[in-house]
Parts: sequence; structure tokens; C-alpha cells
Amino acid sequence: MPQNSVADIGVIGLGVMGRNLAANLADHQATVAGYDLDEERRAAFAAVTPNGVPCTTPEELLAVLKAPRVVLLMVPAGAAVDSLMGSLLPALAAGDVLIDGGNSHYADTRRRAALAAQAGVHFVGLGVSGGEEGARHGPALMAGGTSEGIARVAPLLRAIAARAPDGTPCFARVGPDGAGHFVKMIHNGIEYADMQLIAEGYHLLRHLGGYSYERLAETFAAWQGSELASYLMEITTHILRTTDPETGGPILEIIQDTAGQKGTGHWATTTAMELGMPAPTIAEAVHARCLSALKAERLHAAGVFPPPPSAPAPDDLAAGVGDALLCGRAAVYAQGFAVIAAGSARFGWDVELAAVASVWRGGCIIRARLVDRILDALTRAPDLPNLMLDPHIAALLARGEAGWRRTVAAAVTAGQPVPAMASALAYWDGYRSGRLWANMIQAQRDCFGAHGYERTDRPGMVHTRWNQ
Ligand code: 6PG
Repeated sequence: MPQNSVADIGVIGLGVMGRNLAANLADHQATVAGYDLDEERRAAFAAVTPNGVPCTTPEELLAVLKAPRVVLLMVPAGAAVDSLMGSLLPALAAGDVLIDGGNSHYADTRRRAALAAQAGVHFVGLGVSGGEEGARHGPALMAGGTSEGIARVAPLLRAIAARAPDGTPCFARVGPDGAGHFVKMIHNGIEYADMQLIAEGYHLLRHLGGYSYERLAETFAAWQGSELASYLMEITTHILRTTDPETGGPILEIIQDTAGQKGTGHWATTTAMELGMPAPTIAEAVHARCLSALKAERLHAAGVFPPPPSAPAPDDLAAGVGDALLCGRAAVYAQGFAVIAAGSARFGWDVELAAVASVWRGGCIIRARLVDRILDALTRAPDLPNLMLDPHIAALLARGEAGWRRTVAAAVTAGQPVPAMASALAYWDGYRSGRLWANMIQAQRDCFGAHGYERTDRPGMVHTRWNQ
């Protein structure tokens, strides 16, 4: 039976993320108690966590924690969190801190925070990014919860977080209740869109440009030394250089072209829509994964329609793809930050966007050189309505514009689908259009449904008798 009141934090759920965070905490001198129903996981936890206290029940874990107790849940989002909360809350005391480090939906986190508050317990919705490696050696951490609750756990979280290039820990309290999980959800939406852009770039170079894998890897490696540098570009280069041990050929050739997803991109999309804030490229990335999953239908359709007309690749295809990737990425971050700002306004969170950008400089999947520019932009103008309006980002878009358009046009002409590149371009073009096509939509709505419309020359709603 472990000794009482010895541990600084208890981790419930010792799967790879929970175990790696526990080991990371132990590296930073925390005494960590760990509980999982699974005996093998408890043993694996004990093996990687110096001074770790494996517990066989949640009650035992609570007993070994120092007061006020800090419990970190690392269990699958959804019912498991509710069920654990149901059993833990009655056993926790006022002032204790309960952290949910999973990819929970922010609305669930808001509900749970309110429930915990009734018992005086601080509930922290913690967005954790960086995958297994990040959890072990430095994740990006986005916390939502009471200032008091987060202040209590901040020293531990700051210690285990990744460091930005200037040494700042990639940890911040981004707001109350669901704010941390909201920011993490949008992080994942950006992740989906940037992955889709990169996938389209690789696919175009390979199938329109006829690039070999070696040339592809060289091209991506060169971009890694430019403004395009990012973690996702880095792993893309690595993937392009990897061969399949069974066939000896490029590994991408034997990987099925159907993308999986666990739901955070979908949440980001529906949330953007609920807030009335456009995030079309994030939505396209989700749709693109859904389309990819229709493999049998796609194979059938490939036989129904003749192949698209063959079109020559532009000579400077790689330069254009590079422009499309950088400009597309800028548009995607602009969409994501606009949704965070809208969520913050809707829920009264007062999220400091620059703090979010600062956290995203290290540890997380979407860390990228562009984030430094975004941080500068938001530091200069915290209330900027859209990142694309920042003079430096606007200049970046202007520099890449010709190549971006050329690439999308070449892809469309050759029948190569580039939903993310094209959607990001349409977002920018739409955003900077002083007058759009929506006058026609309003006229149609009024014509068939008498919905009324606003005139350009005076305020107020009017209706036309269309006399069809
Ligand atoms: C991260 C990731 C991670 C996410 C995976 C898988 O920031 O570390 O976002 O939280 O679970 O990327 O997501 P999908 O299975 O939906 O692609």
C-alpha cells in the first residue's frame, strides 16, 4: 500500500499519452501517482516514471496525493470523462484541481467546469498537442479554467511544456472553462487544413510535375530552410525519404489513400459555422478526408468518366506550389484565429490571441516559422480582425499571389483536385472583395420567399414585388 500524501499529481489513464506525460512530469522532479484499470499499463508507468506511485484504484490515487490534490485525466474524450468525474467529484474537496488533458469538446468542458465549481473544485480543460513525442519531451499546453486553479498547476505545466525558440514555455491560460479545449480544437482544424495543403502540393508535383520521390524529398527539404519551415513539412520530407521494408519502394506507394479522422476537424468546422465565421479551408480539409474514404465509389467513378484532359505542368511548378503552400497556410491560420476570436466573444472568454500564437511556436503539430510572424502581427495589433490584414502577412500574400493562382489554375486545368489550395485562394479573394455576389442571393431569397433585403442607398429592410 503506497504511503499517503506523497504525490504532487495523479494521472488517471496510462495509455501512451498519460504515461509519457507522467514520465515528463517525473523528469521535472514531480512525484507522480498513476492509475489505470489495466495492470500492464500500470507496470509500464512504473517502469518509465522514477519515484512513480502506481495505484490500483482511483481512491488509492486520491489518498496518496498532497492537498490540495491535482488529478490529470488522460482518458478518451466523451463518456469516460463524465463517468470518471462522477466518481471522483464526491471524493474531491474544495480547492482541488481536476484537469482533463484529452481532446474533449469545449462545450462538454464548459458543462463539466460548471459542475465541478458547485463542489468548489477547479476544473481545467487542457489542450495538449505534440503527440507521443511531445507528451514525453515537451507538449504545447493550452489551459482553460479558473485563474486560481490554473495558477496552482502552472509551475508543473510550465516545467513540462515545450520551449519556443526564444526559450518561452509553450503553456498559457488562454481563458476560463472551455477556452483551452476550444483553442486546441481550432489548432486541430488548422492541422487538418495544413496537412491537406501539403498533401495536395506533394500530389501535384508527383502527378502533374512527374517528380521522383528523391526530387520531391529534395524540394520539401529545401522549403524547410525557407519561410515554409514547419514541423509538418519536416515530417513530410522524412516520409518522402522513407521506403517500405517489405517492397523496398517508397512507403507512400503502398499506403492506402483513405484518410482517417477522430472528429476534432469536424468540430472545428461545425463550431465555425455555428459562430457564423468562415473557415472554408478547414471545412474543405474535413470534406477531403471524407471524400478520400469513399474509395470503392472513387474506383468505380474512375472507370465511368474518361481521364481529365492532359495538360502540361508549368515550368516553375515547384515555385508555384511553394507559394500556394505558404499563402494557403497564412489563409488557414487567419481562418483559425478568426474563429477563436469569435468563440472568445461569444463566450466572454477574453482570449489573448497573441498568447495562443506564442504557445503554438513550439511543441505542437502546427508549429511553423509563420507562427512567429503571426505572433508579431498580434502583438502589434491585438484586435486585428483578420491576420491577412497585417502588413507583413499581406505582403507575403502579395508576393505569392501569382504563383498561388498559377498553381490552382494548372491543377484545375489538369483535373487534379486541390480543394484546400483553391478554397484558401477563394477565401482571400472573397475577403478582399468590396462587393460580392451576395446581392443576387438576397434578390433570390426575396423573390421566392419574401425574405427582404437591404438597399445600398438607405438603411432598413425592403421587399420587392417581383411579379414573376
Ligand atoms: C496533436 C494532434 C492530436 C490528434 C491527432 C489525430 O495536436 O497532438 O492534434 O491531438 O489527436 O492529430 O487527429 P485525427 O485522427 O483526427 O487526424
